[in-house]
Amino acid sequence: MNSRVAKLIEALAANHKLPLEDYEYLIQHRSDAAAEELGKRAVKVRQEIYGNSVYVRGLIEISNICKNNCLYCGIRRSNYSCQRYRLSEEEILACCEEGYGLGFRTFVLQGGEDRYFSDETVCRIVSRIKERYPDCAVTLSLGEKSRESYEKMYDAGADRYLLRHETADRDHYGKLHPKEMSFENRMRCLYDLKEIGYQVGCGFMVGSPFQTSSDLAEDLKFIETFQPDMCGIGPFIPHQATPFAGEKPGTVELTCYLLSVIRLIHPSVLLTSTTALGTIDPRGREKGILAGANVVMPNLSPVSVRKKYELYDNKICTGDESAQCRSCLAGRMKSIGYEIVTDRGDRKKSIT
Ligand code: 5AD
Ligand code: FES
Repeated sequence: MNSRVAKLIEALAANHKLPLEDYEYLIQHRSDAAAEELGKRAVKVRQEIYGNSVYVRGLIEISNICKNNCLYCGIRRSNYSCQRYRLSEEEILACCEEGYGLGFRTFVLQGGEDRYFSDETVCRIVSRIKERYPDCAVTLSLGEKSRESYEKMYDAGADRYLLRHETADRDHYGKLHPKEMSFENRMRCLYDLKEIGYQVGCGFMVGSPFQTSSDLAEDLKFIETFQPDMCGIGPFIPHQATPFAGEKPGTVELTCYLLSVIRLIHPSVLLTSTTALGTIDPRGREKGILAGANVVMPNLSPVSVRKKYELYDNKICTGDESAQCRSCLAGRMKSIGYEIVTDRGDRKKSIT
């Protein structure tokens, strides 16, 4: 590891921030030794705040119908080979019931931007879940909406909202999205969500087409300044029925490196070791935790729809029952000395 990298790691661990160009340098000049040093420090700070606990979120994929056409995404509206579905309210509640029995205390309702799920419908579902499971957190991940819609859902009881920013660079954003989508609106959503009072999650794909180390440095700067409660990063994986079918996937190595850096920037952030990471490497999720992540999100969707929520090729866990996923992950975490806990898993705000 060169001495500038060593100094930057030291400074990052002490101050939880670096100038933009230093983030870029840290990314460009990475090495196995630097990754190891960052990982060690990331695990140490994570350990001080969260111990050996790994939080679980039950992911319920409520609809793969989407009005958007993001170039990377397998459920984009122009993918006519995608078999569309949406879950009924009763099906969603049944997933929660099963999940509660399995020890989940957070339910994440994720879906494409499907107009069927109007504010009224989402609010009704959220309040029914909160009424039945007052000890659980409800997280929404339903894309871009107006401030008023976000307010209504918050008032109905939603606790958290996940909306990946995808990239913090405006030009790069433009290369990943059709022109009717805008970077400004994405950012507007994130700031609205935070002001309303949600615990907010952002995130990006690692190795997405056209991404440069300067773009990644901007992603890190954004996380440093926005201070999200949660963050999800995973490798980009091409989907065969998208314009990016022939593009290269992101790597485990760079994803884990960035997970460690993010942990040092924002020690208390709830950081997910993603399904995408588990898809490109059979031990990807374990490696993510060992790099500094502290959240996993097993699938709670009915097995009948899982294969259809295919954001990228070869997504794992599409044939497994919820109970299988849950015990599979418990075993994986145990194998590396961590423990999945039955807890809402809120961010601990004591330190930064
Ligand atoms: N590869 C990896 N991640 C993807 N996502 C969408 N498509 C892909 C892909 N091809 C991610 C996006 C989105 C989240 C739900 O899944 O970052 O925000
Ligand atoms: Fe789903 Fe292992 S987590 S099968």
